[in-house]
Amino acid sequence: MGKCKVCSHKTESIMSFGKMPIANGFISSVSDDEFVYELKVDICPACFMVQLGETVKPDMMFNENYHFISSTSLVMIKHFEGVASEITGIISSEKSPFVAELGCNDGVMLQHLLSRKIRHLGVEPSKNVAQLAKNKGIEVLEDFFNSSTAENIVRRHGQADVVCGSNVMCHIEDINSVFDGINILLKDNGIFFFEDPYLFDIVKKSSFDQIYDEHVYYFSGLSISELAKRHSMKLVDMAHQDVHGGSMRYYLKKDNSRVISDRVKELFSKEKECKLHEPDSYTKFRDNVNHICKDLKNTLLKLKKAGNRIAGYGATSKSTTLLNYSGIGPEIIDYISDITPTKINKYTPGTHIPVKPYEFFKTDYPPYTLLLAWNHEKEILEKEKDYREKGGKFITFFPEVTIK
Ligand code: TMP
Ligand code: ZN
Repeated sequence: MGKCKVCSHKTESIMSFGKMPIANGFISSVSDDEFVYELKVDICPACFMVQLGETVKPDMMFNENYHFISSTSLVMIKHFEGVASEITGIISSEKSPFVAELGCNDGVMLQHLLSRKIRHLGVEPSKNVAQLAKNKGIEVLEDFFNSSTAENIVRRHGQADVVCGSNVMCHIEDINSVFDGINILLKDNGIFFFEDPYLFDIVKKSSFDQIYDEHVYYFSGLSISELAKRHSMKLVDMAHQDVHGGSMRYYLKKDNSRVISDRVKELFSKEKECKLHEPDSYTKFRDNVNHICKDLKNTLLKLKKAGNRIAGYGATSKSTTLLNYSGIGPEIIDYISDITPTKINKYTPGTHIPVKPYEFFKTDYPPYTLLLAWNHEKEILEKEKDYREKGGKFITFFPEVTIK
């Protein structure tokens, strides 16, 4: 068994997926060498943190070729506008407030603070996306965040009133070093909030495709509360978000006298009821995942054997786990349509399905489309009304395989 990355206690296994390539490791040629690692997820019975058993070096995932661009979804653009408005409210009574965002990606959130002339800094180690943010005029520090980065920032800008991060905290293996940094960077009365896919939603929907190299942790209120305590902070509030298949925003304060909101107490009892903190409670999750994968492959094979073309929609990082674990490759899926320029005309990691531009899908509708970007279902179904009106069908798979 492994060792907990938070508290060093012995971990217990939840599920193993076997050898897996890097989720965003799109390749230019099918003969390219691919790095593989063992994808397995464990839980720590002492601090309740659900985590990967084997991790990949950060610079293999977050580098000058990072393929994930936040502004590819209209819903996400709106979502981050909401985050910026919330921050603007929090700092409204401060004189010259300073906001730091960890993992600012292309500046989808910070652009609103820039336009409101609020002092800000984005910390972003992936050079290509950091450049997109810089092009907008956003101030960016191209680095990984830890205590020495925090010291540098404080020297240049002073301490922050707000530190935030979306879909970044769960990416950082040395999460204790991030909290050390937060303690340096955040003002004593400041607020630190972040959001990531929520373990409760993953278990409820069996959405195991959230499990991949970049997601080192699968947070719950219970595990974040323990983590905060280890760093003399307190989890004071939680707010559920519909994005990314169900996320949770956690609000932390340094001030330990702060009262915990009723929302936190309610969510804690929900998590305990679902036994998210107990290693033995994940048997049903494993069974559900295996059932979905088998059912999905059988459904697709049947459609294929009947002579149907099948496309994929959205070459998501998540789909690397789904496709590799289910054994779904180019013999079943003809191509995957995606709007991210860096993914187009490449091949999916491990399964080698060609990624084609959106026009490919739009100009010659396939009868069936596997909705790999299921977390954007509402937006995509709205956008693809014409496809469905002309008889095209989407296939979704969480919590069960459905053709719609
Ligand atoms: P995500 O699930 O990690 O947010 O990634 C979504 C992927 O789906 C990303 O590669 C962009 C792609 N995408 C499309 O191709 N068309 C769309 O309409 C949307 C919303 C996403
Ligand atoms: Zn632990």
